Amino acid sequence: MRSGILSYPAGVRDALAREHYLADDGLATACFLALRLHRPVFLEGDAGVGKTALAAALAGVLDAPLLRLQCYEGIDASQALYDWDFPRQLLHLRTAEAAAVAGGGTLDASAVESELYSRRFLLARPLLAALETTPSVLLIDEVDRADDEFEAFLLELLSEFSVSIPELGTLRAEVPPVVVLTSNRTREVSDALKRRCLYHWVDHPAFEREVAIVRRRVPAASARLAGQVVAAVQVLRAEDLLKPPGVAETLDWTRALIALGVDALDAEVATVTLGTVLKYREDLQRASRLDVGALLDQAIAQA
Ligand SMILES: Nc1ncnc2c1ncn2[C@@H]1O[C@H](COP(=O)(O)OP(=O)(O)OP(=O)(O)O)[C@@H](O)[C@H]1O
Ligand SMILES: [Mg+2]
Repeated sequence: MRSGILSYPAGVRDALAREHYLADDGLATACFLALRLHRPVFLEGDAGVGKTALAAALAGVLDAPLLRLQCYEGIDASQALYDWDFPRQLLHLRTAEAAAVAGGGTLDASAVESELYSRRFLLARPLLAALETTPSVLLIDEVDRADDEFEAFLLELLSEFSVSIPELGTLRAEVPPVVVLTSNRTREVSDALKRRCLYHWVDHPAFEREVAIVRRRVPAASARLAGQVVAAVQVLRAEDLLKPPGVAETLDWTRALIALGVDALDAEVATVTLGTVLKYREDLQRASRLDVGALLDQAIAQA
């Protein structure tokens, strides 16, 4: 049933919507192609536009576990792929030694060594776990935070979907995982890595879709409140801010207003709750120089 609906882009869009993720046609098509062509999808976009959430929604659609690798500066293969479980290896060695002494014999060093370097002492980090889990969705989140060396390593992994472990041999994915890479574009990711992937720039949603997202994610919001909040956020986004608010902030603002028992936005309540939307002092100062009342009127007129 699922494979039927996933065989055309609008079907993928509808399946994502059932997971409460509302994709536009461009993003739904990118996901459809990623599934159909078995290619990783590379998502770039501002903070809070729904890149990470898309991978979670895809995992829901496929009814597959989501394996998430959060990248950071200095990440290497032992944190991303696998590591040996040193404390358990040591314990096993001590136990084998004690058993040999108690039995009055000597330790069979080569037998113990091959036991120590068997699969059961290997800790699977997200990349190996994704190769070993079928089906699975592998999210390589914020790849722009990792360094070039790690990117080269990823490139190799994404072309082979296999890994060579010197002590164990080669482990290969039976079926490659569905892979989603995300970047906030704090630096440019290499062309070679992008070439492996389908690229999609995730934009801030258009008005109608953002209202629909708010209503889906915050069911307590009335149509009027959702429309006013989205319109106000979209006006703020058009200002030259250090950190334009993402969908995450729109949802936070709506939840804050509901918590305050507010059902219509006005200049006064907007001013005291703006900290849920703008997270830089400079941006708050800029907003305070704007005429919030006029801005809201403009926003509400558009809504
Ligand atoms: N199209 C959408 N449909 C439903 N919910 C969405 C959509 N886009 C964003 N959201 C919601 O907005 C919030 C922020 O999204 P998410 O964390 O995925 O953004 P991001 O692009 O990964 O941001 P960052 O770059 O900061 O990690 C989440 O709660 C997510 O559920
Ligand atoms: Mg994210």
